Amino acid sequence: MKFFIDTADLEQIKEANDLGILDGVTTNPSLMAKVGIKGQEAVYQHYKTICEIVKDGDISAEVVSTDFNGIVEEGKKLAALHKNIVVKVPMIKEGVKAIKWFTDNGIRTNCTLVFSAGQAILAAKAGAAYVSPFLGRIDDSGWDGVQLIEQIAEIYAVQGYETEILAASIRSSLHIIQCAEAGADVITSPLEPILGLLKHPLTDIGLAKFLEDAKKFN
Ligand code: G3P
Repeated sequence: MKFFIDTADLEQIKEANDLGILDGVTTNPSLMAKVGIKGQEAVYQHYKTICEIVKDGDISAEVVSTDFNGIVEEGKKLAALHKNIVVKVPMIKEGVKAIKWFTDNGIRTNCTLVFSAGQAILAAKAGAAYVSPFLGRIDDSGWDGVQLIEQIAEIYAVQGYETEILAASIRSSLHIIQCAEAGADVITSPLEPILGLLKHPLTDIGLAKFLEDAKKFN
């Protein structure tokens, strides 16, 4: 399972990248706004900077147009910024049409705002490189986000779809573990749940004891 970080915060991207386990980055307009990016040129420059930090990973850059022509024009500009850019397109009718166009024209896409198996089937049929089910938001509404990941994984395996399942809207370290069990190809998570995977009190207690005992050698 690949690890992407879900942020536009350069310091957090660097920290995750320095860990050596980062495979890519996802952003969205809310995450870009959160770090104070303003204006189209600044947005483009920010994507390029992220691509330079994570040299070898896919970077999802989201369109904000909602009509076919607008999505295609915007997506072409985003894809031209760097070879690792994946155009993130919302799961709407015009979005599906645009994903098919991008697929036919060699531009990779991440179909976002996916909340059902039916939407995931459409994304795969249109040829999306990634499909992004939002499991945390599903949990928030009283449904089971991990169950949706399992269902999509089963359908994609049965049908032989090549679209990668990118579990998004991760809220906890447990979500990451559950996604690994459920068959997600990728998780995209804020930094905190990724770092949470490191933690165990017995590790800290055990290390303290080893270090204490090591002093006896000196
Ligand atoms: O990648 C999608 C993700 O950013 C949504 O996360 O926490 O806003 O539901 P959240």
